[in-house]
Amino acid sequence: SPFTLAAVALGYLLGSIPFGLLLTRAAGLGDVRKIGSGNIGATNVLRTGNKRLAALTLVLDALKGTAAVLIGRWLGDMSGNANVAEIAPLLAGLAAFLGHIFPVWLGFRGGKGVATFIGVLLGVDWRAALAFCAIWLLVAALTRYSSLSALVAAVAVPVGMFIMGQHSAAILAGLLSLMLIAKHHANIRRLLAGEEPRIGARE
Ligand code: G3P
Repeated sequence: SPFTLAAVALGYLLGSIPFGLLLTRAAGLGDVRKIGSGNIGATNVLRTGNKRLAALTLVLDALKGTAAVLIGRWLGDMSGNANVAEIAPLLAGLAAFLGHIFPVWLGFRGGKGVATFIGVLLGVDWRAALAFCAIWLLVAALTRYSSLSALVAAVAVPVGMFIMGQHSAAILAGLLSLMLIAKHHANIRRLLAGEEPRIGARE
């Protein structure tokens, strides 16, 4: 359907906006890809020392995912087709996530998808987004590892959604989760080697 196609295209474009890179550049902090882990996400923006910019990166990278889902819902409803209405918001969210981790503008070298995952969840079911944040905060409080917190939350939330009976949304979340885990391969290796820097650690 043209409505689904439009939702996917708009979702990808929104998702591909690299807020971490744009904000740090605009603030005169140079290229965030040249510091810390080299990632464009909020965790690495925090390594510039600017907490407000890191928080803004988190919020904007999340909200672009939420916006994509809402646009998908709007277009799906406009189609007047119940199947399109169900699938368009999910596909728009998937497209936004893919846009974030594979942005055409950065030679497809994008982020790891944590914030955008939360934002997509927020658009699909706010309770799932809340659960993700709660698990992230709990694991971060216990371990001070940003990556580990995201990995634990990303595994737990799709399983929880599936158990709650939200099968199509859980499958979407599971897909995003698999890509998020794949994008964290270097973090996983460092965690296993005991070499992952903790939040707030000095370089
Ligand atoms: O949000 C990404 C986080 O899980 C890891 O980021 O920069 O430590 O690789 P980073």
